[in-house]
Amino acid sequence: MKTILVTGGAGFIGSNFIRYVLERTGFNGKIVNLDKLTYAGNPENLADIQKKYKGRYVFVKGDICGYDTVLGLLKKHGITTVAHFAAESHVDRSIFGPKDFIETNIHGTFSLLEAARTFWAGRRDVRFHHVSTDEVYGSLGKTGKFKETTPYDPRSPYSASKASSDHLVRAYGHTYGLPVTISNCSNNYGPYHFPEKLIPLAILNALEGRPLPVYGDGLQVRDWLYVEDHCAAIWRIINKGRAGETYNVGGACEMKNIDVVKGICRALERAVPARRNKALNGKAYADLITYVKDRAGHDRRYAIDFSKIKKELGWQPYVRFGAGLGKTVDWYLANPEWVKNVKTGEYRKWLTKNYTR
Ligand code: NAD
Ligand code: DAU
Repeated sequence: MKTILVTGGAGFIGSNFIRYVLERTGFNGKIVNLDKLTYAGNPENLADIQKKYKGRYVFVKGDICGYDTVLGLLKKHGITTVAHFAAESHVDRSIFGPKDFIETNIHGTFSLLEAARTFWAGRRDVRFHHVSTDEVYGSLGKTGKFKETTPYDPRSPYSASKASSDHLVRAYGHTYGLPVTISNCSNNYGPYHFPEKLIPLAILNALEGRPLPVYGDGLQVRDWLYVEDHCAAIWRIINKGRAGETYNVGGACEMKNIDVVKGICRALERAVPARRNKALNGKAYADLITYVKDRAGHDRRYAIDFSKIKKELGWQPYVRFGAGLGKTVDWYLANPEWVKNVKTGEYRKWLTKNYTR
């Protein structure tokens, strides 16, 4: 029976992953979620899971940079898989203050690798999986896609820190024989996405009749993937992927930012017609679109070639963008408490009530 240490499981993708594994895969082992609960970590994301899987889901508030904490958890729970999501993840924040990105993404990954190497001591029946990003490859021109062999060319403090952690993971695989895998994935969207990122920010701003900020000319391209498809890819890599390998994961869904925002306006119009939304004061959702100053060093285009994972592991994305966006809009509309708590920081009170620190 596997016992999985998920790092950063209170964040967007990590919480979706824990839910996916426990509810959708037939997995019957235990998951330990180690999360520092930064501004982006929210245990409310898994409140129902905590109740439903008592004994099989354990939450631990802690920092991945703490080698002793991590080693202690590996020993205490007999961890056989590490699924490493914990990171500072927002590019804009990395531009304004890179320090935490260097700490968590580089030093944190190093401390996890060291603890895993010590505890597993040469075992091969274990797995260290690093959840990484397509941003390590840099920016594409009008054509081409990122392959696993594309040279690294990170261009923001965030992507440089993730590139650095990828190199460390690979080095531990090569030098110490640690059974590692890496996935480099494109932009995710879906439930529990923190509303500093484009899609949830635009959904919630639009509902409140606030501006929808589009950076620069809005013609930058991202390759969007519904978060559950990403979780399925990670699960498959952990279970079937070859140790030492990297797998690119993408949505086959290249879209210009401006078209994403217009798509959100259309999805909202279907769910909550603007004429019935008092916050809009007679405006259409699209009237809220506002071009603002560009992100410094803004990467122009990302696109993923996921033929390797498709061929080797039979994975491909299933959720089309229109359907995924519809589900995402519906989720935010159905969870006003979550939204309110995240926006007002109320979940921090919930946290103090439910966990002793
Ligand atoms: P997120 O910001 O929503 O969540 C990050 C989680 O990590 C939070 O719960 C936070 O509390 C926790 N954390 C941060 N520092 C920590 C530390 N020092 N110790 C323990 N926990 C800590 O991020 P996300 O969007 O869910 O991304 C998860 C991972 O996936 C990241 O590694 C990111 O680089 C990668 N990724 C994200 C995307 C995307 O589109 N969001 C795409 C590809 C890869
Ligand atoms: O590609 C994978 C990456 O996707 C992950 O590694 C990161 O963790 C994740 O945050 C995401 O990075 P992006 O910078 O692409 O995501 P974000 O949602 O911040 O921005 C998406 C695009 O929209 C980007 O080109 C910047 C633009 N943007 C963003 C915001 C927040 C806007 O035009 N306006 C905005 O207000």
